[in-house]
Amino acid sequence: MEKRKPSIPQFKTWKEQGRKIRMATAYDFSFASLVERSPIEMILVGDSLGMVMLGYDSTVPVTMEDMVHHTKPVVRGAANTFIVADMPFGSYNVSLSETMRNANRLLQEGGADAIKLEGGEGVLDLVAALTSGGVPVMGHIGLTPQTASQLGGFKVQGKDAAAAQQLIEDAMGLEEAGAFAVVLECVPAPVAKMISEKLSIPTIGIGAGPDCDGQVLVIHDLLGIFDRFTPKFVKKYAALNGTIIDALSTYAKEVEDGTFPGPEHSFGMVEEELKRLY
Ligand code: KIV
Repeated sequence: MEKRKPSIPQFKTWKEQGRKIRMATAYDFSFASLVERSPIEMILVGDSLGMVMLGYDSTVPVTMEDMVHHTKPVVRGAANTFIVADMPFGSYNVSLSETMRNANRLLQEGGADAIKLEGGEGVLDLVAALTSGGVPVMGHIGLTPQTASQLGGFKVQGKDAAAAQQLIEDAMGLEEAGAFAVVLECVPAPVAKMISEKLSIPTIGIGAGPDCDGQVLVIHDLLGIFDRFTPKFVKKYAALNGTIIDALSTYAKEVEDGTFPGPEHSFGMVEEELKRLY
């Protein structure tokens, strides 16, 4: 399949045409190479890597070093997929100059095409400064995992009219500040629909119903690899856990009983040379 990295204006055109944008996370070369061979056009190197790759309980401990380290192999594995890298907690709450430096690192050292950061009205100045400095920004509102404790946990956001109104204003503010797309996480479907209709930039939903302009899922969730917990909005398109454990168990059994390695996986030697060893 011929694949070409889409451009930012293309995402807006797709929204106007009603063509959905497909996005999944990836955190390493192998998975990025698999996404590259699928029709998915956007990869998120999400700070969810803190949970699925590094075993933390939340995304808060993830550092800039972690993000740069994981973005590089994804870029090497998916040259024709648009790559967004997350700004981790603590990388954009100190000062504007530090925020700019960290965002630049994800593009220059990591090789990402854009960055994503969480927040609504509180980050609009940052988003405006980043975008006017040439950094493409994807916003992220609704359930923002980096600040989930302030939101009372991993809960659906925007359920009453006042909260929904705030989300609408946050989304419109992000568009005005120059964001090229906005992730809506754990937002009631009717609110996500309303936001998607009001914005001219695409919305990318996760737990936000079918009317967003695109969807994103964590790759380990959609492939059925991560099973510490499964949010309601996740659909598992495969059950790779079972497949992987079965393969590992068969390998372990064959090593134990001597079936592996067989002759087809072993190297021979010229008989004369072998004799000289004795
Ligand atoms: O880090 C991540 O994977 C995300 C998605 C849940 C949108 O931010």
